[in-house]
Amino acid sequence: MRGFKAIFYRILQHPVPIPLLIFTLIFISYLNHLRYPSSPNLDLQTTTPSIRQVLKDVYISPAAQKLPKRGLLFCFVTTIPRYHATRAQTVVETWLQRCDHGELFTSNSSWLPEVVPYRTIYRNLNDTYEELFWKSKISLFYVFTHISPNFDWYLKADDDTYVITENLRAYLASFDASKPHYIGFRMKPYLKDGYNSGGAGYVLSRQAMRIFAEILYYDESLCKFNEFEDVGIGKCLANAGIYPTITSDVEGRQRFLPYDFQQVYEGMLSSKEAEYWFKEKPKKGNSAFTPDLISIHHITPDTMRALELSLYKIRISSTT
Ligand SMILES: *[C@@H]1O[C@H](CO)[C@@H](O)[C@H](O)[C@H]1NC(C)=O
Ligand SMILES: *[C@@H]1O[C@H](CO)[C@@H](O)[C@H](O)[C@H]1NC(C)=O
Repeated sequence: MRGFKAIFYRILQHPVPIPLLIFTLIFISYLNHLRYPSSPNLDLQTTTPSIRQVLKDVYISPAAQKLPKRGLLFCFVTTIPRYHATRAQTVVETWLQRCDHGELFTSNSSWLPEVVPYRTIYRNLNDTYEELFWKSKISLFYVFTHISPNFDWYLKADDDTYVITENLRAYLASFDASKPHYIGFRMKPYLKDGYNSGGAGYVLSRQAMRIFAEILYYDESLCKFNEFEDVGIGKCLANAGIYPTITSDVEGRQRFLPYDFQQVYEGMLSSKEAEYWFKEKPKKGNSAFTPDLISIHHITPDTMRALELSLYKIRISSTT
C-alpha cells in the first residue's frame, strides 16, 4: 500500500504535467490511427462479393478489345480514377504496351481516352485500401476465366511500378508455365514461406492461375479475406502448395524491387526491420542493382519517363 502511495505522489510531482501526458498519449494514438486507418469497427466486406454483381455493366475500351487473346505475357495494372491522368497514362505510354496483352483495370472511364486499353472491372467494388484484396482476387479470376487462359504468364502490377518486360521475359524463359509458379519480391512475415510484395509486381504461371481460378477462388476457407491484399493472395496460393520463388541473382541482388532507386540505394529499412520484412536481405548502394532488373516500385510518372528514355531512346555515342 505504501508503495502505491509513493508511486502516486511521484506521478503528481513528475515534471511533465499529467494533462500534457494524457494529451500526448491521445495524440500519439491519433497519429497511429492516421497511419493504420483500418480500425476494427470499419464495416469491411469479408466474404467474396458476387461475381455477377461485380461484373455488371463493366466497360471494355475498344483498345482493350483489340488486344491478342493468347501469347506469352499478359499484364494488368490496377489503378484508380484519381491517377488516370498521371500514373496510368504514363504506364500505358511506357512499359505496358510491351506485354503481349497489357491493360489497365479501374473503376470508371473518367479521363481515359478510347485508345487506352482498360476495363472498369472495379466499378462495383469499394475503393478502400482495406478492400484491395477483392480487387486482386476478382482480377486474377476474371483474367483467366473472362479474358483468356491462353497466356503462359500473368503479371499483376501497380500504377507506380515500372517493369522491364524484356528482362522479365528472359527470366521467365527458365521456368515452365505448365507448373505452378509465383514470382516476385519475397516478403517474410505472416507466412512460413513468405508472400510476394504487391507493389513490386508478381507473376503467376498459367498453371498457378488455373489452380487459383478453378479451385482457390471458390473456396472461402482456402482463400480468405485479408486487409493486406498481397498477404491474402500469398496465403491463398500457399494453401494450394504454391510458394514464392527466390528471385535474386547469383550475387544476391533482387530482380524485383519493392522501393524506389534512392530508397534501395540507401538501404530502405534498418537491418532489424529488413530482417523482419524481407526473406533475403537486400543489398545497399550500387551493388543492390542487378543488370537483370525486372521491376521497381514507387516510381513517379516523371521517373518512369526518365527510365523509358534512358533504356529505350537515348543513344550513347560511340565516337569520342
Ligand atoms: C469516377 O470515379 C471518381 C472517383 O470515384 C469520381 O470522382 C468521378 O466522378 C467518376 N467519374 C465518372 C465519369 O463516373
Ligand atoms: C462496400 O462497403 C460496404 C460497407 O462499407 C459494404 O456493405 C459493401 O458490401 C461493400 N461492397 C463491396 C462490393 O465490397
